[in-house]
Amino acid sequence: MRHFLIDTDTASDDAVALLMALRAPHITVEAITTVAGNCPLEQCVKNALLCVEKSSTYHPPVYAGMTKPLFRARYHSHHIHGEDGMGDMALPPPSLAVESMHAVDAIIEHASRFQGKLEIVTLGPLTNLAMAVLKDPDLAQKVKHVYIMGGSGLTPGNITPLAEFNFYADAEAVHLVLQSGLSVTVVGWEIGMGEAFINQDDIDCLNTLSDLGRFAVRCNRTLMAFNAGRTDRVGFDLPDPTTMAVALFPAIIENCIEAHTWIEYHSEKSYGHFVIDSTQLTFQATNARVVTSIKSGMFKQKLFSLLS
Ligand code: RIB
Ligand code: CA
Repeated sequence: MRHFLIDTDTASDDAVALLMALRAPHITVEAITTVAGNCPLEQCVKNALLCVEKSSTYHPPVYAGMTKPLFRARYHSHHIHGEDGMGDMALPPPSLAVESMHAVDAIIEHASRFQGKLEIVTLGPLTNLAMAVLKDPDLAQKVKHVYIMGGSGLTPGNITPLAEFNFYADAEAVHLVLQSGLSVTVVGWEIGMGEAFINQDDIDCLNTLSDLGRFAVRCNRTLMAFNAGRTDRVGFDLPDPTTMAVALFPAIIENCIEAHTWIEYHSEKSYGHFVIDSTQLTFQATNARVVTSIKSGMFKQKLFSLLS
């Protein structure tokens, strides 16, 4: 059995990723930690608790974490995921309650408890993980692996021409994580924009698949409208579920590169630029595995299976 801790700024694509993990029989979600990002922290907590209930499986503890980035002002994405982060579905309040322990302490506590077996999946800004690294200098030795949704590989970003949302929201936190010695796999936004993109046929399939399939489509309604306003593509991308699929099923990785990586956090214009030394020009030590492609069709096959 694999042991997962999921760190999330719970909005609509995070929600689908949480449902996938909670319904995957071969892993246990030991904890869900929330971090401000897409939404203010309080909304992230509410959405995470709702997803735990919606999964109809088991109830891992949910913890509240950092309310803002390490140095920068909050940066939310209501225009992409809706005011409630969940496509403005007007969902009822959750019946489950958040834990009293802080998420940063929960990360440290679970890493210590599962000594070398805990796998962390981050779906939002890295503020919680960075704080855990600062608080427990031995964290890298206790955590088996970290799967990170962030950056945009070697392609343009989705917030600036250089920066993807999770890394733009708190680039200093990314810097601390990349320097921490943690073993990491980075899945960029571009991976979810490829053949993993949920098109109209996929929407039709999800809507006839199950209640969870319909929920996955409905909560991403604002994201779909946002995409329609910016591109000629009908549908929505699922960067967090794509990253979750890589974590759940590493065999989905078709190509990846081990590289030295860093993030720009000094420059205002280039803030949040995740740089991948893909041709070893810096001669610096490798500090990340970056996924560059996933096997065609496997993401949707796993998504539909887990939501059925
Ligand atoms: O850039 C995509 C990322 O930003 C996803 O994690 C999405 O939920 C938003 O947080
Ligand atoms: Ca997210």
